[in-house]
Amino acid sequence: MRVFHLKINGDSVDVAAPEHYSLLEILRYELGLTGSKQGCDKGDCGACTVQVDGAPMLACLALPSMVEGKSITTIEGLAVQHCMDGGEGASVLQNAFDEAGALQCGFCQPGMIMSAQALLEHNDSPNRDDIKQALSGNLCRCTGYTQIYTAVEAAAKNRGDHGSA
Ligand code: FES
Ligand code: FES
Repeated sequence: MRVFHLKINGDSVDVAAPEHYSLLEILRYELGLTGSKQGCDKGDCGACTVQVDGAPMLACLALPSMVEGKSITTIEGLAVQHCMDGGEGASVLQNAFDEAGALQCGFCQPGMIMSAQALLEHNDSPNRDDIKQALSGNLCRCTGYTQIYTAVEAAAKNRGDHGSA
């Protein structure tokens, strides 16, 4: 066991975990943050995507020692940040996924949203190719992707009105 000092969704946490645990295993099994999904657990599906210092990262491939001292955001943190920015409820991007019907089983959705969030934080008006590129590491076995791309486009259009994505 080792104690890792992590900053997750704005909170500093000290967490004791086996040294071989991935960041994803710490999130899910030590901290109960199960929004990040454990799909392939080997870097293929994107379901575990979180943000580290604003960039998307596959939590199943990240060792916690790699991200100590960095700012980690999980899907659970998006609504919190949205409310801290003056919004209410779910983030603009989460609402856009909901309104576009951009899910079926929903397993890919947290990872899709975290990758899209990182895109929108660096590109206010992405075109369809930008969105496809940003989500190219996130696999969906259900939707065919069209509603997902539509949701990201809608969020990009709306985020100026709401102050955050
Ligand atoms: S669970 Fe991490 S990429 Fe699939
Ligand atoms: S909605 Fe089922 S995997 Fe994407």
